[in-house]
This record gives sequence, C-alpha cells and structure tokens, in this order.
Amino acid sequence: MRALVYHGPGQKAWEEVQKPQVTVDTDAVVRVDAVTICGTDLHILKGDVPAVTDGRILGHEAVGTVEAVGSGVKTVKPGDRVLVSCITACGTCRYCREGRSGQCLGGGGWILGHKIDGTQAEYVRVPFADLSTYPVPGGVSDGELLMLADILPTGYEVGVLNGSVRPGDVVAVVGSGPIGLSAITGARLFSPSHVVAIDLADSRLEAAKQFGADVTVNNGRQDPLSVIQSLTGGLGADVTIEAVGVPATFELAVALARPGGRIANIGVHGEPATLHLEEQWIRNITVTTGLVDAYSTPTLLRLLTTHQIDAGRFVTHHFALDEFAEAYDVFARAGDTGALKVVLSR
Ligand SMILES: NC(=O)c1ccc[n+]([C@@H]2O[C@H](COP(=O)([O-])OP(=O)(O)OC[C@H]3O[C@@H](n4cnc5c(N)ncnc54)[C@H](O)[C@@H]3O)[C@@H](O)[C@H]2O)c1
Ligand SMILES: [Zn+2]
Ligand SMILES: [Zn+2]
Repeated sequence: MRALVYHGPGQKAWEEVQKPQVTVDTDAVVRVDAVTICGTDLHILKGDVPAVTDGRILGHEAVGTVEAVGSGVKTVKPGDRVLVSCITACGTCRYCREGRSGQCLGGGGWILGHKIDGTQAEYVRVPFADLSTYPVPGGVSDGELLMLADILPTGYEVGVLNGSVRPGDVVAVVGSGPIGLSAITGARLFSPSHVVAIDLADSRLEAAKQFGADVTVNNGRQDPLSVIQSLTGGLGADVTIEAVGVPATFELAVALARPGGRIANIGVHGEPATLHLEEQWIRNITVTTGLVDAYSTPTLLRLLTTHQIDAGRFVTHHFALDEFAEAYDVFARAGDTGALKVVLSR
C-alpha cells in the first residue's frame, strides 16, 4: 500500500510500505476513505515532536471502512464504516476509566502518527478498536465527520469545557485557526453574551465571524485589551481561550481575563511562556491546559447529526488520497490559500 512517511524534519514522502495487519487481538485494520491534516502534523514536520522518528506514517484523523478485526474486538466488524479518533483508549487503565484517555496508561492516548503508524495511508492499524472508533452515523458526510476526529473535541474539551463557559459569559478566543474556530463553535452552544475572536490574519477573522464570533480584533492593528474592557465595563473576559501556542498569546489570554476569570490554554507550546504571578496572584484566576481526551465525541456526534453544529464549513479544500504533497502545501500556506481543513479522500 501507499502511505505518507516522515523522514526527519522537512522530509516526507508518499511511498510504498507494507500493509498493516492485525497484530493484537483488540486491533482493527481500517481502509482509509477520508483523512485530513492537523496543525500538529506541521509541528512534527518542523521537528518539534521528537517522539516521531524516521519511517513513521503520519496522521491521526480518519474515516474509513473496517477491513479486518482481531478475535478480541466485539463491537466493530469488517465492512463497518467508522470514525477513527485521534485518541486511542485501552478502556481499562485508571485514566480511561475516568474518561481521560489522552493520558491512557495502557498503550493508548495520542499514538496514531506519533508513536505508531498513522492514518495518512491507504490502510491503518487501529489498536483497541472497540474504544477508539465510532460508527459513522447516517446523513453525515465523511468530511464533516472527520472534524470530530480531533479539532472539535479539542476546542470543546480543552477550550470550552475546561474554561467552564457559561450562559452570558464574554468569551475571548486568541487564535482563529481550526482549533480556535472549534472553540468558538463549542462556546456558542452555551449562549455567551459575546465571543471575541483575536487573530493577526484578517482571513481568519472573516472565518471567525462565519463561525459565530460577534466581535473580531486584529491584534496587529488594534488593542484587544481595550476592546474587551469596553465590552465588560473594564473588568475583562469571563473566559479566555488560547488557541495559538506561542508565549505572547498565552500572556495575552491571561491579561484579558477578569479577576475570577478562567483561562483555558489549548496551544501546544514549544518554548517557555510566563505566568506573571507577581501580577496575577491576587486576581483569583483559574488556568487550565491539556491534551484532548475525546470523551466528548459521543456528545459532538449527536450535535452534528441534529445539525446543531456545522462541521462542513471547516472543509475548504478537497484532494485525492495520493495528493498529499499538494494538500500539505495548501494547508501550510493557510494565510494565502484560506485553508481551514483539507480533506483527502478515495
Ligand atoms: N491541546 C491539544 O490537545 C491540541 C490538539 C490539537 C491542536 N493543538 C494546538 O492548538 C494550536 C492551534 O492549532 P490550529 O490548528 O488552529 O493552528 P493554526 O496555526 O492553523 O492557527 C493558529 C492561528 O493563530 C494565529 N496567530 C499566530 N500568532 C498570533 C498572535 N501573536 N496573535 C493572535 N493570533 C495569532 C494565526 O494567524 C492562526 O490563524 C496549535 O498550537 C496546535 O498544535 C492542541
Ligand atoms: Zn491533531
Ligand atoms: Zn487507558
């Protein structure tokens, strides 16, 4: 089969590799029908994720058709169409039992396209198939469903739920890439009084408006603090969500929160970011951060099938499965191409 193989920083190739097989009795082998690219894949290609080594097949999001299952797989059978989550769950460890499979101790967590071969391939081996896949519901396209493999659970869990967004809140989202837009989508479910999107790219702020931000701030030109203060009688935002992953945006997210406010960091940070405790100790803030667990996937599936979230508008570009070079190029140059999520399918 063919797969997109990582060969060290900056190097990847769509090449012939061995087709995966069931190796543990809880595995499924899934024929990949549709797959997407994550910002984290770009981090990997920059060399930011050293656990990913030469020869690894990339990708952690897919929709596909089950081709084979091990004898220990009970609910998934050949021919079933499934969503493959970015988080694999053993189901029995302490964290999985607490709904925290991102921290799985039993061999799961974020492993696809990281510690084991991933989904950017014609076929993928999915460990713990019963707990790491979801049946494809009727009336939903593969492209829409793919948005539930990673970005929508991430924005919802690590942003909206960790930040405890409540009705009437003023929510500021720093960064309007796919993750920030997912956080905006999730925040809207709680009827906030305002959702303020902050980004340096006007194209991303335009997208944020489509996704439900009622106020947009280009922080290259405008001061987000004065905008938030004018909306909140000088107090600051009830919840700020950081969806970029650089020190400046974390510090901005903290500065924009009101006393007693909540700051939910989603960004993957490659360098130290400062929490100014000399200013913040007295402000009663709560800061959260973390990796997605994907415990919200069943909830998001119900919201998708009842049309209460629109996942389709994330998909800006379509490619064939062998067009990874073009798809990565369009996705990596999002500022020029307007790409949010690209979908490659058979
Ligand atoms: N915690 C998790 O489980 C998890 C899961 C997936 C992704 N992530 C992380 O979330 C972050 C966002 O992901 P994405 O795919 O949306 O990334 P992205 O690169 O597509 O979007 C980032 C956005 O931030 C904007 N930006 C950059 N610098 C800025 C600044 N100084 N001020 C304001 N805006 C700025 C960019 O213009 C862009 O629109 C990344 O760090 C990614 O690795 C975390
Ligand atoms: Zn991802
Ligand atoms: Zn586990």
